[in-house]
Amino acid sequence: SGDCENVKIGIIGGTGLESFELFEMNCTKTVNTPYGSPSSELICGTLHGVDCIIIARHGKVHDIMPSDINNRANLYALKEEGCTLVLATTACGSLRAEYEPTDFAILDQFIDRTTKRDSTFYDGKPGHLKGVCHISMRNPFSEKLRQLLIAACEENGVKHHKTGTAITIEGPRFSTYAESHLYRSWGGSIINMTTVPEVVLAAELGLLYASLALVTDYDCWRDDYEAVSVEHVMQTMAVNKQNALKVIATAVANASKQKWSDDILQAQKAAKNSVMGGK
Ligand code: ADE
Repeated sequence: SGDCENVKIGIIGGTGLESFELFEMNCTKTVNTPYGSPSSELICGTLHGVDCIIIARHGKVHDIMPSDINNRANLYALKEEGCTLVLATTACGSLRAEYEPTDFAILDQFIDRTTKRDSTFYDGKPGHLKGVCHISMRNPFSEKLRQLLIAACEENGVKHHKTGTAITIEGPRFSTYAESHLYRSWGGSIINMTTVPEVVLAAELGLLYASLALVTDYDCWRDDYEAVSVEHVMQTMAVNKQNALKVIATAVANASKQKWSDDILQAQKAAKNSVMGGK
């Protein structure tokens, strides 16, 4: 159709989605950025004719803990390679009975409980972006990209929730019973360790970003369920992975049928207008 346009999509694969078997891989590429090295080599390929670049957020063999992920390098590399849209997956615990393990949630808000991460490109260091960036987080996720993921869940018959507030904790430990109940009282839907500052950094670069949260457990707030454990997470991820691959593949295919240029321009303008000084 006349609305077709070329987009390049960055995909940040979380726990359990370190490799994307559905993709037609063309090459891997090792890159560096002013902010250091991304979590993994870039896996460049096409899916349904759409150019994609995949990064394994925790490294190819899951040896990078949440606090040590170089989110800035990951996002910077995707932008440098020409990506304008970013789709992320994240394994998560549920803070609500109705968000059941193996359900998906398309996040629309977050509450930041991280404490030791580089959360801006504009840190005043030599070679880095100059100025101070006060980026709006009123709506941290791209609504258009969120709708793309929601439609892709519907197309694949995957049970999902159209909204969700992520509580992102520093980790790597899981939460206490008291914390888990506190986060529920704050209105959190799911809990994870990686949405922040990834989504913030995407906004600073003017990238459209959305996150597909894959529920693996009920964290530890329920008295009638076993508390979250690594074993638990990995077991449920085996199911989630197959559904996530289908949903991402559908989203990528459908993305190429839409017009993104206005949204991209708006995101880039918002990013630029958030920077003070640096001239
Ligand atoms: N990732 C998966 N399950 C989680 C939980 N319960 N808390 C934090 N991160 C998670």
